[in-house]
Amino acid sequence: MKILAIESSCDEFAMSLIVDDEIKCNVISSQIKEHSNFGGVVPELAARLHLENLNWVFGELVKETKIDWNTLDYIAYTVNPGLLGSLMIGKIVSETLSIYFEKPLLPLNHIEGHIFACSIEQSFEYPVLALVVSGGHTQIELVNSPNEFIVIGQTVDDAIGECYDKVGRILGFKYPGGSKIDKLAQKGNFKCYNLPLAKNDDTFDFSYSGLKTATINLFKKLQNESKIFKIENFCASFQFSATKIIEIKLEKAIKKLNPKTLVVAGGVSANSAIRNLIVNLGNKYKISKTILPNLEYCTDNAAMIAKLASEKIKLT
Ligand code: KG4
Ligand code: ZN
Repeated sequence: MKILAIESSCDEFAMSLIVDDEIKCNVISSQIKEHSNFGGVVPELAARLHLENLNWVFGELVKETKIDWNTLDYIAYTVNPGLLGSLMIGKIVSETLSIYFEKPLLPLNHIEGHIFACSIEQSFEYPVLALVVSGGHTQIELVNSPNEFIVIGQTVDDAIGECYDKVGRILGFKYPGGSKIDKLAQKGNFKCYNLPLAKNDDTFDFSYSGLKTATINLFKKLQNESKIFKIENFCASFQFSATKIIEIKLEKAIKKLNPKTLVVAGGVSANSAIRNLIVNLGNKYKISKTILPNLEYCTDNAAMIAKLASEKIKLT
């Protein structure tokens, strides 16, 4: 089974080829540099840059795989969620290839793709409990099969990555500031400042806008008081509140749903505190498989869409 996949939902234009469940190539063009001047992704710019980058990505895929279009079985692409203009570029490229080479199209969900990035290197045992944390999403999903995804909880406002990046901006870090905060947090004392644990209730939903505002207000207060403070302690205290609530909700979900596999996906899964809490929960509840995906497959990429397509097709 040979599937070509295209992902373009945000600021990456990516293509991948999977053959009999093996990723043969994973080409990604990232626009972080261009958007960092604006402190975040500018949707209009993202779509325009996709148009500029797709020739390079397509050329690289052809060069790396020497793809024989006649033997291709499917073309899969991200249909939602994402930025409208960005999604449209991927859809148009996929539809053009599909019409020209007479191949069937598979429109797929981006978040479901993130989850299946975790099954590229290790197979799933169902049910799978998945935490998806990225610049645009914060969700807990229960996956019963490649065709059955149940959203257990999600953010009611900002995504966790968005919160990290906005706090990073106030601290003067280059966009996206999430990984810089994480690095500093690992050297600080999380007990130094008391920041809120938002939506610590009976639901599996999250809220990050309150924590963002509280953190920014605390920073301004410390600055106004001209107090000398350790940025490492500040970042550690923020990171504690941002991730502790994930641990609390995920633990409740594990107790209730008894998963056989626990995974974390999305760009924020690179975060050290989140990686630790996933491993600890996996051990504590003796979950047969606990999967932390390779960082190459954590941020937006087309290999995850290719893998999701491959698993879905196996069921047909
Ligand atoms: O999956 P992704 O590319 O986002 C979306 O396209 O939605 O992930 C990017 C996000 C950014 O918000 C970035 O700051 C965050 O992941 N991130 C981190 C870390 N590494 C990346 N956030 C916290 N700690 C990290 N180590
Ligand atoms: Zn994503």
